[in-house]
Amino acid sequence: MKALVLAGGKGTRLRPLTYTMAKQVVPVANRPVLHYVMTHLQEAGIQDVGVIISPETGDQIQEVLSSNPWGLRFTFIPQEQPLGLAHAVKVAREYLGEDPFVMYLGDNLIGHGIREFVTSFQESGADAVILLKEVEDPRRFGVAEVDERGNVIRLIEKPKEPPSNLALVGVYVFSPAIHQAIQQIQPSWRGELEITDAIQKLLEMGKRVQSFVLQSWWLDTGKKDDLLEANRVVLDEWVQREIHGEVDDASQVVGRVRVEEGARIEQSVIRGPAVIGKGARITNSFIGPFTSVGDQCHIEHSVLEHCVLLEGAKVLGVERLEDSVIGRNAHVARTKQNSRAYRLMIGDDAEVLL
Ligand code: G1P
Repeated sequence: MKALVLAGGKGTRLRPLTYTMAKQVVPVANRPVLHYVMTHLQEAGIQDVGVIISPETGDQIQEVLSSNPWGLRFTFIPQEQPLGLAHAVKVAREYLGEDPFVMYLGDNLIGHGIREFVTSFQESGADAVILLKEVEDPRRFGVAEVDERGNVIRLIEKPKEPPSNLALVGVYVFSPAIHQAIQQIQPSWRGELEITDAIQKLLEMGKRVQSFVLQSWWLDTGKKDDLLEANRVVLDEWVQREIHGEVDDASQVVGRVRVEEGARIEQSVIRGPAVIGKGARITNSFIGPFTSVGDQCHIEHSVLEHCVLLEGAKVLGVERLEDSVIGRNAHVARTKQNSRAYRLMIGDDAEVLL
């Protein structure tokens, strides 16, 4: 069994971060989302992974996977234009050959591995198994109608009137029959070849499509609040206490906190769950729960809680920063005490709430 990981696309919902960064590379608890995906594939026993990349961000994706601690065999497959998920499968046709494959959208994060899900495909004899999750507003997703045994009856992409509240999580397993189905579909209203339409076509061809309902959480890191929520859940569930950096005697590190190598904490309090990246410097500050401080960040005389700081960000003299995402090398600093003026240099599509 192979895997096809989709790591192209534009990531418009996470601007401005995604002006310079692929959405699959955005860190959650200081690890790119794509790393969690690869861990799940490796745990499911998969070795060959095709990665769909776009001309804009393909280099970053290759770079972020280059350390390859999973020992996977990667094949990078360029998709020149974002013409849909089923189009990506078409582009990977030669790579996939006649093998069954797991398709995994590289910006999705789920709270549980996919081993059982892959096994359920092997045992079912179906031509597709789809992962579903109950959601509050299914209109934002592909939606499935299923019978009491989990057989899929109908699928519809972003329905105005959803037939159920079961959304398609972006993880699927397919037999090679999917390629015939893709040949027979047309682009949707958004101009994309939809994988949802291809699976619906499989049903019309008389093939069996099974579903598997995800019991753990599923986070789509699409927007700022989703990213903060993903960060909160991952820190809460997966971070262990590990102190590799230096913590001086005047500091306290409380609870599940990972302090990476080369980080230095002086006269500060860090209250977990939290992660502090390599080479970060934290002085005279309080870092509250659910905060991820990226590599080489610098924090001084500040209080932070429920924040994500990307690599190289600086926060100096800020009384209290909450629910915030600070991009790479961005600076947030108080200038003169008692000054009422804000002085800003903010990139396109940024959001500042004062
Ligand atoms: C895609 C799929 C949709 C699925 C969603 C999961 O949507 O088309 O069926 O529910 O991923 O994240 P998109 O992100 O392209 O809008």
